Amino acid sequence: MIPTRPPFLESARRFLQHHARQLGVIAAAGWVAAIAVSCASTVTRTVVMPPSISGASYVGTESCAQCHEQINKHFGSSAHATLIARGPNAVNVGCESCHGPASVHVESGGAAKTVVNPQRNPESCFECHANLRGQFALVNSHPVMDGRMGCGTCHDPHRGGAHKAGGTQLLAENDNCLQCHPAQRGPHVFEHEALREGCVTCHHPHGSVNQRMLSERGAILCLKCHFQQQSAPGRIAIGTIDHSTFLSRGTCWSAGCHEAVHGSQVSSSLRF
Ligand code: HEC
Ligand code: HEC
Ligand code: HEC
Ligand code: HEC
Ligand code: HEC
Ligand code: HEC
Ligand code: HEC
Repeated sequence: MIPTRPPFLESARRFLQHHARQLGVIAAAGWVAAIAVSCASTVTRTVVMPPSISGASYVGTESCAQCHEQINKHFGSSAHATLIARGPNAVNVGCESCHGPASVHVESGGAAKTVVNPQRNPESCFECHANLRGQFALVNSHPVMDGRMGCGTCHDPHRGGAHKAGGTQLLAENDNCLQCHPAQRGPHVFEHEALREGCVTCHHPHGSVNQRMLSERGAILCLKCHFQQQSAPGRIAIGTIDHSTFLSRGTCWSAGCHEAVHGSQVSSSLRF
């Protein structure tokens, strides 16, 4: 007697024979999906996880006060004080939103390399200010990504307005720039009043596609304040002088024109 296969096995065999190709595809797709998912999770982690010390957990802003009393005391006045929140779910905001989980640091009594310092690695700033990663990657940018300076060089993370030497003082923000760029300081016999508006009227301090981190390319930079007036057809007056033939020859600060954009010792029309 020939043993008969149970009918459900028989139909399963037929099903497999019939759909072998599709199943292969499905199995392959499953693998691809599994690999894709595992890649995606690894990749996302490295991109969005804030820098942190392995094995550390969050301890909360109050626990920093025992040893960093001065910083905690003034932190309420800082632009980032808005990060502080209360309650059991808010333990990771405050100091540790920039410095990462700090339990290992606290337990070790402040041992070296147990806490993130954003001055050496700006990644924790980019977690919230994500647009700036791109700006600092531009060819013309301050050397923050290679660690030659940090965000803290120009920003005060712990106290007052976030801009160093900012506040209400006239020119104060420029002073921070002038520490490293003394050539632009003056005093100049012929000042360029534009500098009173701040270096940032013409420069993007984080980075720019334009050379010298300029905010605009070419004559547009100057024309945003020095309007062009068409006094007669084909005649463009800037100041009282017809510039119509000059504008096509190069930038306003080309040799022979207003090279001394930051101020001049010899000429009221800003020349060297
Ligand atoms: C038990 C004392 C203690 C506590 C609590 C403590 N620290 Fe520190 N911390 C230190 C010591 C000591 C240093 C090294 C000397 C210094 O810079 O003051 C330090 C240094 C640091 C540094 C600089 C590290 C570097 O590599 O440049 C940071 C950032 C820091 N602490 C953040 C925190 C934060 C945030 C907290 C709260 C979550 C905290 N600390 C709590 C003792 C402490
Ligand atoms: C907005 C991000 C941010 C927050 C929030 C923040 N810090 Fe900092 N912290 C920095 C940066 C940036 C530096 C490096 C500054 C520098 O070197 O000029 C720094 C440096 C430090 C240092 C070492 C240098 C120093 O000034 O002694 C300590 C200690 C420190 N922070 C503690 C704290 C404590 C405590 C808190 C909460 C009360 C806190 N930080 C909140 C960004 C932050
Ligand atoms: C957890 C999110 C978070 C992190 C991390 C963070 N910031 Fe901020 N930052 C904010 C918020 C929110 C504001 C707006 C505060 C306000 O306007 O009241 C702000 C404001 C600022 C400002 C002021 C902008 C202005 O308009 O004047 C500067 C500068 C700044 N952050 C720099 C930094 C730097 C540098 C770091 C890293 C050391 C950093 N931030 C890390 C959330 C963050
Ligand atoms: C060379 C000085 C300098 C450095 C370095 C610098 N900044 Fe700034 N940053 C400025 C100035 C100046 C402004 C004000 C710009 C303006 O008013 O147009 C500013 C504005 C900001 C603002 C508010 C406006 C905006 O663009 O969103 C944030 C946030 C900020 N900076 C974060 C950062 C972070 C994060 C870093 C480090 C990765 C950093 N800055 C490094 C000078 C600097
Ligand atoms: C801590 C010192 C420091 C501070 C503060 C600083 N800079 Fe710079 N700046 C540098 C360095 C370093 C470079 C890069 C020079 C290089 O790459 O050779 C640079 C480059 C520049 C350049 C481009 C120069 C060139 O030859 O291409 C401009 C423009 C500039 N900074 C403007 C500013 C402005 C505006 C501020 C204030 C918001 C400022 N800097 C604050 C150190 C500083
Ligand atoms: C009216 C616009 C304007 C303002 C305001 C301005 N700059 Fe410039 N800056 C320029 C231009 C244009 C250049 C390019 C000059 C060149 O390539 O010959 C430049 C170039 C520079 C350079 C590169 C070195 C050089 O002189 O060519 C530095 C550094 C610099 N500026 C810093 C500053 C600082 C610091 C401030 C604020 C105190 C400032 N600038 C304000 C327009 C301006
Ligand atoms: C933020 C506005 C602003 C920007 C941008 C600006 N200037 Fe000026 N500039 C002024 C002001 C204000 C004066 C003084 C009033 C006047 O003479 O129009 C002035 C004066 C001058 C003068 C002297 C005019 C004279 O004969 O007394 C020259 C030359 C000049 N600017 C050239 C430039 C050049 C070149 C640029 C572009 C790199 C530029 N300016 C960008 C505001 C600006």
